[in-house]
Amino acid sequence: MTATDAKDVGQVGSRNVASTIDLADPATFAGHDLTNFWQRLRDEEPIYWNPPTSGRRGFWVLSRHADILEVYRDDMTFTSERGNVLVTLLAGGDAGAGRMLAVTDGPRHTELRKLLLRALGPRVLGPVCRAVRANTRQMIGEAAANGECDFATDIASRIPMITISNLLGVPEADRASLLKMTKTALSADDESISDTDSEMARNEILLYFQDFVEFRRKNPGEDVVSMLVNSSIDGVPLSDDDIVLNCYSLIIGGDETSRLTMIDSINTLAANPGQWRRLKEGRCDIDKAVDEVLRWASPSMHFGRTAVRETVIHGERIQVDDIVTLWGASGNRDERAFKQPEVFDLGRVPNRHLSFGHGPHYCIGSYLAKVEISELLIALRDLILGFEVIGEPQRIRSNLLSGFSTMPVRFDADRTGLASEAREG
Ligand code: HEM
Repeated sequence: MTATDAKDVGQVGSRNVASTIDLADPATFAGHDLTNFWQRLRDEEPIYWNPPTSGRRGFWVLSRHADILEVYRDDMTFTSERGNVLVTLLAGGDAGAGRMLAVTDGPRHTELRKLLLRALGPRVLGPVCRAVRANTRQMIGEAAANGECDFATDIASRIPMITISNLLGVPEADRASLLKMTKTALSADDESISDTDSEMARNEILLYFQDFVEFRRKNPGEDVVSMLVNSSIDGVPLSDDDIVLNCYSLIIGGDETSRLTMIDSINTLAANPGQWRRLKEGRCDIDKAVDEVLRWASPSMHFGRTAVRETVIHGERIQVDDIVTLWGASGNRDERAFKQPEVFDLGRVPNRHLSFGHGPHYCIGSYLAKVEISELLIALRDLILGFEVIGEPQRIRSNLLSGFSTMPVRFDADRTGLASEAREG
């Protein structure tokens, strides 16, 4: 059943009304607009039960901004240790529980987060950020000179992967195959990629990092893996498995979402010429623009938790072991939290978007992600006069990530900008 079918029949309003929208099914999101569905949920059924389907468990759905914030904050009632996305929550758990940052709670989470922040904090990221700037300007400059490119595959695929690979110390020769694996692992754009293919890709990434950690133990460098190899929590060194799982998490977390946000920003700016002119003419603050691009793209549609104690939300009793999903993609359009949420406004203030989550698991890569997006906006502003999408972009097929895998674009170069870039470069 698709969301288009569901537009007619997917009414909400009672837990007993069989809904025809299955939020666990990637097909629900493929090429369909769920705007009205989310609006109805926020207005009429802010806690909604997605019934069991195709042998999958049912789960709760939160769609309002304020409710999502509250659950993110409350890690005493809601754990991440049984998975934090539908695929693992419905499979009954995450193999990385208690070891991988995103699916670890309590004091170990705090300690692990402190370690990883050493590598991801603004103070240590200077050289990585300078490389992001140089690479982005070079790629946009080349695209401007050539006139056309597929922005998704030629530019947006490369920037986050180069960045995260630099951070982790992944050799250049391995990056293309790693990118292919991460795409298969998460954001399949091809129906021929089965769940088994995705699982195999996830295993291949883990195997890759097992070898890499072993290599770094013998040949330490200046990268995050080398730092983790020499780190301990409570006097106990991190095991190879701990390091491998967290590298996996950084590569998956650091690549997909940034890439999808950048691709979406091109599509959205092309569709909103007034906002593009505002950016081009320097009439908006880049940091605010980045936040609006993030709110608009909402690249990860949901995260989730499992209740470890009973609680009540909007009158519904949440039992121990119930899965509660938090749909940031809906919260980011909640008119209770945003003035005119359906308007793309690069100067939006305030903008408390949910794209990086909230609370103890707030995205640890948010600074890096913002640098990547802002360097893209700055490079576009400086080197491009205008652009248009010249073909039908292809949507990815996922119940977690939202966005496009292709984005054919024609660029009109800013000759003055390119000339001054060439002089400075
Ligand atoms: C956590 C989104 C970029 C690594 C999260 C969470 C969200 C998120 C919503 C919270 C998950 C939860 O509460 O269960 C995004 C978006 C990004 C982005 C939208 C880009 C636009 C990055 C980057 C990295 C990264 C660049 C790494 C370099 C992580 C990690 C966590 C996380 C390791 C787990 C943090 C914790 O559990 O304490 N991200 N992320 N993310 N993100 Fe990101």
